Amino acid sequence: MTDAIQIERERGLLTLRLNRPDKKNALTRAMYSQLGDALRQADADPEVNAILLTGSSECFTAGNDIADFLQEPPSSLDSPVFRFMLALLECRKPVVAAVAGAAVGIGTTLLLHCDLVYVSRDARLRMPFVNLGLCPEFGSSLILPRLLGHAKAAELLLLGEGFNGEQAAAWGIASEALGSGEEALARAREMALRFESLPPDAVRISKQLMKALDREPLRKAIEEEGALFIQRLRSPEAVAALSGFINKR
Ligand code: COA
Repeated sequence: MTDAIQIERERGLLTLRLNRPDKKNALTRAMYSQLGDALRQADADPEVNAILLTGSSECFTAGNDIADFLQEPPSSLDSPVFRFMLALLECRKPVVAAVAGAAVGIGTTLLLHCDLVYVSRDARLRMPFVNLGLCPEFGSSLILPRLLGHAKAAELLLLGEGFNGEQAAAWGIASEALGSGEEALARAREMALRFESLPPDAVRISKQLMKALDREPLRKAIEEEGALFIQRLRSPEAVAALSGFINKR
């Protein structure tokens, strides 16, 4: 157990808080394992109505820990990062995200699989996979072109362009953009607590229906992306880019 993931319970709301401020909440294998386990337990716990995923009011997450990518890259679809994302994808309960500051890499990708997403207007989202010699992951190559059209999605996925919270809300990646990180976190908590007064079976069935059409294509896309991502991590392009980040420090 590491306190890099803080788990809090407030009535029917389970909050998973990323808490590794010295590394901008970069996600390690241990953190993915803990997040995956907590999500699965919450999904099975009849007392939990909703799950809130958040960082601090200054930073959501800088994405996968780059040192981990070099030292212990995921080697199969059974690795902690895949198990975490699978738990998120399969979660039958509403998952709400609160985002402030940086949301990089998987920090942006995972938002595509949450139900409600509250961001600060000046949040900085980015998927710099190509820039790191990698490729899109966890269904983003399927979801983003559908959501934004190919040309806008290409700016985000092929050029690795960043965007802010206001754009994320305008494009439908986020539910709402708020004036500050504190406001985004407070709004997310308020909305997540609303599930307490809603009939849980109706919420669960409705979420299932909203996801049904994309389930099979998404599974296929995630498998294809995952296999290529694992290959790319060992490519000279990726090793050079990831080592460049570490060596700049
Ligand atoms: N993995 C490992 N360490 C990371 C990290 C990551 N993804 N992101 C940040 N850190 C570490 C830095 O190395 C630094 O550690 P140090 O103080 O021991 O040198 C610390 O976190 C602070 O980062 P810093 O870059 O100084 O903060 P910043 O506020 O100037 O910038 C970011 C924040 C998130 C914009 C920037 O850190 C960044 O771009 N990180 C890389 C994100 C990325 O490419 N993720 C995708 C992985 S697929």
